[in-house]
Amino acid sequence: MLSVVVLISTLLFLFVQVPQGAGLLLEVLRYASENVDKSLEQELRVIIEVSSLASRSSTINSADLAGLAKHVCAARCNTTFNQTMANSKDSFERFWSLTEDPGLAIATRRSVLACIILHWILQKERKFDDHAEKDLENITRWFYNVHLHSVAQRGLLEYLHISKSGGTSFSEAAALNDCSMAPGIGQVEELGDLPRWINGTAFEEVTGGIDIMWSYYSTKGRPSEGQTCTRRRAYLKEFGYNYVSNEFTLHGGSSERNTHVCPQMVNVVTLRDPDTRLASHLHYMLARVKKRLLGKNGKVDEGNFFDIFCAGNVTVWERLAPTAIDNYNVRSFIGERGFHMPVGGIGPEDVEIARRLLLQFDLVLDLDAGSETVDLAIQQGLGWNLSMLDLHVRSSSWALSKLNYSKEDCPNDELLRTLRNRQNPDRALYSTGRTLALLDGVFLGVARALGLRPVVLATMEVAAGVLVPRDETGCGLMRPAAVEGARRGDAATARGGGGKASRSSAK
Ligand SMILES: *[C@@H]1O[C@H](CO)[C@@H](O)[C@H](O)[C@H]1NC(C)=O
Ligand SMILES: *[C@@H]1O[C@H](CO)[C@@H](O)[C@H](O)[C@H]1NC(C)=O
Ligand SMILES: *[C@@H]1O[C@H](CO)[C@@H](O)[C@H](O)[C@H]1NC(C)=O
Ligand SMILES: *[C@@H]1O[C@H](CO)[C@@H](O)[C@H](O)[C@H]1NC(C)=O
Ligand SMILES: *[C@@H]1O[C@H](CO)[C@@H](O)[C@H](O)[C@H]1NC(C)=O
Ligand SMILES: *[C@@H]1O[C@H](CO)[C@@H](O)[C@H](O)[C@H]1NC(C)=O
Ligand SMILES: *[C@@H]1O[C@H](CO)[C@@H](O)[C@H](O)[C@H]1NC(C)=O
Repeated sequence: MLSVVVLISTLLFLFVQVPQGAGLLLEVLRYASENVDKSLEQELRVIIEVSSLASRSSTINSADLAGLAKHVCAARCNTTFNQTMANSKDSFERFWSLTEDPGLAIATRRSVLACIILHWILQKERKFDDHAEKDLENITRWFYNVHLHSVAQRGLLEYLHISKSGGTSFSEAAALNDCSMAPGIGQVEELGDLPRWINGTAFEEVTGGIDIMWSYYSTKGRPSEGQTCTRRRAYLKEFGYNYVSNEFTLHGGSSERNTHVCPQMVNVVTLRDPDTRLASHLHYMLARVKKRLLGKNGKVDEGNFFDIFCAGNVTVWERLAPTAIDNYNVRSFIGERGFHMPVGGIGPEDVEIARRLLLQFDLVLDLDAGSETVDLAIQQGLGWNLSMLDLHVRSSSWALSKLNYSKEDCPNDELLRTLRNRQNPDRALYSTGRTLALLDGVFLGVARALGLRPVVLATMEVAAGVLVPRDETGCGLMRPAAVEGARRGDAATARGGGGKASRSSAK
């Protein structure tokens, strides 16, 4: 999968370097074709399949949309690239109503881009003419305008914070962009969104009665405020929030089948290589535990801490932190019941469900693709004016040393080896996630290369006289002014992307 990283960074380079209209897409696709590996091809196929399933289960135009995805993809092996593009374009002209349904628009965007890239990498003779290039430009323009409007209209970002995957930095970025959010990292305890790492009862048993933070594990459900999307949104709006961070799992408790993202929110997630995430999580918990046990109220002496926690006893960890050490990524997607499945309980069916839900996220960010890629997503995708390099991202070793812990305290190599062998579901999900991040990067990168900017939306609304006071900025596309503009703006704005349509319709 390394080649995907290389691909992304080269794509970004091209987006920055190649002037608009100078065969940009040809360059991008040529590069992609020379650098992909088999896993990318497989992942693209999975994304196409799952997206068309997702659109089939939706209510609006479901049959038509499934037909569209099939149509576009069927053409991939035996028609020209030119033809594939023309087919996609024709189909879109009949599907403007997608604007009304964010989920459908996201599934369509992903499956169409996946088809185009797949088609390109499978072609034997790589021809590409000006028509195809213009078509792809038009398609991207359309997707981007739908994205901007749909994000502005929802105006409330729900970030899925998978522990130890860059969530603190992401929330810090939100705060620096003046997002309105709960203090700290934007988590709302009343909604039941705090992480559930440690089984407090088991911890007390092991330590002879000492309690610990993050021991919400035994608190399975969410309080009633957090139980439905409507109630969540109402609760957050009461405080005027437009950003919330959820470090538990997606919504829906009783069975994985009814687990869902909230369609009223803009859904964003950051992913990271599962092995590194796991090691980081384990050491962070150890640091916290050490601090607690050796602190003022701790009754355990240093020797006991090492005996209990640093002996690499996998049984101890299975009891104390059953979710954190066992496919925590997948658990973060599959809802309350799935989240609490016993160690070893996560299998391929859960990966399927997690994948289906991941595909509905507006943006998927891959931390391992590098800070430029993450920057592209937050700037071009959310309208936040900042680079991750501006953040005072605290290295994990800084955090650990502040807790008077060093990784050498508990080497745990053997334990980590054992645990890594069990994280195949997380790896499968991450592989899809990286590919989605690649597709989102292509989409946003082409939009940027075409000169489309999130701020254009605001500018259009200033001209239309519907913008609320100029100083009411903040949180990029989620700010109240953007919501106001999007509500009053006509669908024509989304279609044409031109200021003209917006001005006349707002009169
Ligand atoms: C592609 O070829 C197959 C058989 O080789 C055929 O059944 C199918 O209809 C063709 N698809 C298109 C879009 O022409
Ligand atoms: C590509 O498609 C366009 C129509 O979209 C057509 O006018 C053009 O001739 C096609 N080019 C080739 C090489 O087939
Ligand atoms: C792309 O969109 C523009 C403006 O909407 C239109 O004039 C042009 O014909 C479109 N190009 C293609 C190839 O469809
Ligand atoms: C937490 O640990 C206790 C004691 O080991 C155990 O009885 C209980 O079932 C665990 N809780 C859950 C939700 O697994
Ligand atoms: C691991 O810990 C469990 C109980 O916490 C204990 O029963 C078991 O003997 C330990 N295993 C080893 C290899 O020390
Ligand atoms: C973004 O930030 C830079 C420097 O932090 C500033 O110069 C620029 O004007 C900002 N752009 C917008 C659109 O706010
Ligand atoms: C830090 O940890 C070391 C060894 O684990 C211990 O000896 C020392 O007392 C601790 N320092 C503080 C300030 O807690």
